[in-house]
Amino acid sequence: MEIIKTYIEYRENPLGIDIKAPRFFWISEEPGRGVRQTARQIQTAYDKEFNKMVWDSGKVDSPESIQVPYEGPALQSCTRYYYRVRVWNQKDEPGPWSRTGWWETGIMDFNEWEGDWITPEYDFQAPKTACPILRREFCLKGQIRQARAYVTAKGDYELYINGSKAGDAFLTPGWTSYNKRLLYQTYDVTDLLAQGENAVGAMIGSGWYKGELGWRSRRNLYGGREALILEIHVEYEDGTKEKILSDASWKSSYRGPVIYAEHYHGETYDARKETEFSRPGLDTGEWFGVRPMGRVTKSVLRAQECESVKIKEILKPVCILETPRGEKVLDMGQNMTGWVRFRVKGCTGSRVILSHAEMLDPDGNFYTDNLKGAKQRIEYILKGDGEEVYRPHFTFQGFRYVRIDEFPGEPDISQFEGLVLYSDLERTGEFSCSDPLLNRLYENAMWSQKGNFVDIPSDCPQRCERLGWTADIQVFAGTAAFNMRIPLFLSKWLHDLAAEQYESGGVPWVVPDIYDDTYAYDLAGYVGQSEQVAAAWGDAAVICPWTLYRHYGDIRILEEQYESMKKYVEFIYRQGKNPYVWDTGHQLGDWVALDAPYGSFIGATDTSYVATAYYAYSTEILYKTAQVLGRQGDTCHYRQLYHKILDEFRKNYVLSDGSLSVRTQTAIVLALQFGLVQEEYRQGLADELAEWLKRTGYDLITGFVGTPYICHVLTKYGHPEAAYGLLMKKEYPSWLYQVTKGATTVWEHLDGLKPDGTMWNPRMNSFNHYAYGSVAEWLYSGIGGISPTLEEAGYKKFVFAPQTGGGLKWASVKEETMYGTIEASWEETEEDGRQTVIYRLKVPSGITAEVWIGQNEDQITESGKSLRDSEGIRSVRQEKEKTVILAGSGVYKFVQQRQG
Ligand code: BGC
Repeated sequence: MEIIKTYIEYRENPLGIDIKAPRFFWISEEPGRGVRQTARQIQTAYDKEFNKMVWDSGKVDSPESIQVPYEGPALQSCTRYYYRVRVWNQKDEPGPWSRTGWWETGIMDFNEWEGDWITPEYDFQAPKTACPILRREFCLKGQIRQARAYVTAKGDYELYINGSKAGDAFLTPGWTSYNKRLLYQTYDVTDLLAQGENAVGAMIGSGWYKGELGWRSRRNLYGGREALILEIHVEYEDGTKEKILSDASWKSSYRGPVIYAEHYHGETYDARKETEFSRPGLDTGEWFGVRPMGRVTKSVLRAQECESVKIKEILKPVCILETPRGEKVLDMGQNMTGWVRFRVKGCTGSRVILSHAEMLDPDGNFYTDNLKGAKQRIEYILKGDGEEVYRPHFTFQGFRYVRIDEFPGEPDISQFEGLVLYSDLERTGEFSCSDPLLNRLYENAMWSQKGNFVDIPSDCPQRCERLGWTADIQVFAGTAAFNMRIPLFLSKWLHDLAAEQYESGGVPWVVPDIYDDTYAYDLAGYVGQSEQVAAAWGDAAVICPWTLYRHYGDIRILEEQYESMKKYVEFIYRQGKNPYVWDTGHQLGDWVALDAPYGSFIGATDTSYVATAYYAYSTEILYKTAQVLGRQGDTCHYRQLYHKILDEFRKNYVLSDGSLSVRTQTAIVLALQFGLVQEEYRQGLADELAEWLKRTGYDLITGFVGTPYICHVLTKYGHPEAAYGLLMKKEYPSWLYQVTKGATTVWEHLDGLKPDGTMWNPRMNSFNHYAYGSVAEWLYSGIGGISPTLEEAGYKKFVFAPQTGGGLKWASVKEETMYGTIEASWEETEEDGRQTVIYRLKVPSGITAEVWIGQNEDQITESGKSLRDSEGIRSVRQEKEKTVILAGSGVYKFVQQRQG
């Protein structure tokens, strides 16, 4: 068996991690079917040749090829470790060693930091909004073998050395609960340094640290002073080492070119103020000193935990249009998050002013009302020497349209580009089918993930919000995990969730939490409760780690979050008089459902019903997590609690005829999805839902809570036609309605733009909100048929159960799992009047597919043979109404004859 890919901590060759026992992953291949690994060996060393061995696992009998932890001696800081892996197949033959990979540790312990936090001295004459620059020069005495910079800031920073930017990450250090956790980044700066004179400089913007956050324009949430901490470790060719540190010797200035920058509002950049601040020899006569912030603790410092934000795509605008109002507007053709980069020529002091928005109004004019306070405005003042190229630094915009408010000369489309920013996650999923509208809906969900995965999972990227609303990611996490490799991204955010959790165990509405008590009162519109915890929002604490476990077999995240998960369930237990229901607090219910009473965002489903349903579900996940982690006492305890909640739920909401006392679609969906009602009533409820949908012409009226699951429960209980009915409907209210209206991302409201051409209330009308995009999970697992199991998490065993229908002729999905790529497709054809479906499936080595593609075994063949004669198929069994085929690795072609 040959190893074709290796990862450590989900990444190839990561630089600057501080994990004590990083985990190895590898993908192996061997032609043929039913191939699997039986043993493995991992070696790690200080050198590429493996002469200076650090750890050799020896041959270990094990089929496991993901999440395998390092078990060698304690890792040292700032050290590169090489590793390689080999595996044995089922015939006990060893394969060759894998390629040699590596990882490099960062500063493993905050106590080891020698650099000081430094902050610029004030310059009272500089504009108050200006972004400071901190710099110093230094001399390197010899030839450099290698150099690393470890750096972070309070505020967004960009680090430059000798005129070049270090690394390709932006908006660093990203957003965490800064007072508790602040991530530092590591850069390989070997090529930026030279023997002799050097200079280093950092520009710092307000960013999430002290810029405006939330729609009440609050600022300085974490502190009022920008600050920097840095260490450059230089190793000379002769083996000697030297460190350049942030300390009192640095200089500072508030007179740099970025004279204003706010995430929501944009940036003003005066190119006339550019200096060569990161080159040696600068006259710093007018520069100020810095103040080391001696008392400020370094204990919050941690290594970067996930992929940084990068320019992931570059879009060319499709046209410059002129609106009826006479505005000149660039159309990017795609609603996106990021920046416009432009090239411009003009005289000194002339300006480029750009405004960004998502939509044109019904008359075709530039529409900014839904941005609320966010100005999304870029102003660039030219220095006037030839062609100038600019992109913003400490801001980002959510937009499809860009109004050119000022521009020297006649702007030409070729002068502009859209730089799409999001966390540098690998795309792992693909879906396509014979319906172009559905394909666009799928891409819209993908684009909404891109636009809202800018370091944290956010609700929207444009208006003055852009916050880590917990329910939004709770409902979207399953889709997100199909779309991209998200475990590090989401784990990092979950660490913040745990850090922000209230003493009581409650989970704030947004993470990082910017709503302190007084603000929360104000938001909720009433006074009386100091902590705002809502069902479906707070449950992100439990559901998100579980989603990561399901998709990646990641037990470590369960271990890390376990206390947080437990605290949350315990918090609910203590609410109200009856510990088995959740009927207190300010609940947000089935948010933005269309059955909401007029003027409300909260759908018609009783909020205590929703809260108790989630309480049961989270408790179920908690006891199962305890089981996975081998905590027997907790497993028993929470299983019992779960059953008591179920009993109470049934007492309160299930009537004697099996119907529910809460009569909404979302009520049925939750009861079925979470398995809350007695077995014998489930089919009846599913039939009722399908009937209801049919009667009302498949109107989609469920909100945040019901929508993610509705197609799943319909399919599970034998109503794929109803799921397709909802999905394929083009008239309002439906998913495809917005696609027919030209949406390129998923909208917050199904009627963001109404059929009569008017817009929804601008107070809350984002056109890039992924919650409704959670239907894409059903595109992968329902139509495409692929889903991971909990039985053998991380796709070790997955289900292939595609749903044909909806008028589709074919569909295909691809998922790059940590075991390799699963490919699956189906196609309906007709031969001699008989309907035939061809299913193709590629199962990577080492994992098993459970295939459900029909009722009758005799009607299915595999590559021309009967199922039982097919190599690679381990078993075929008949279950109630389906044939269950267990298939090992290999490429399969199943042909199913349909009756009729
Ligand atoms: C956000 C939502 C969020 C909701 C909850 C909105 O403003 O954009 O997505 O979950 O508030 O109140």
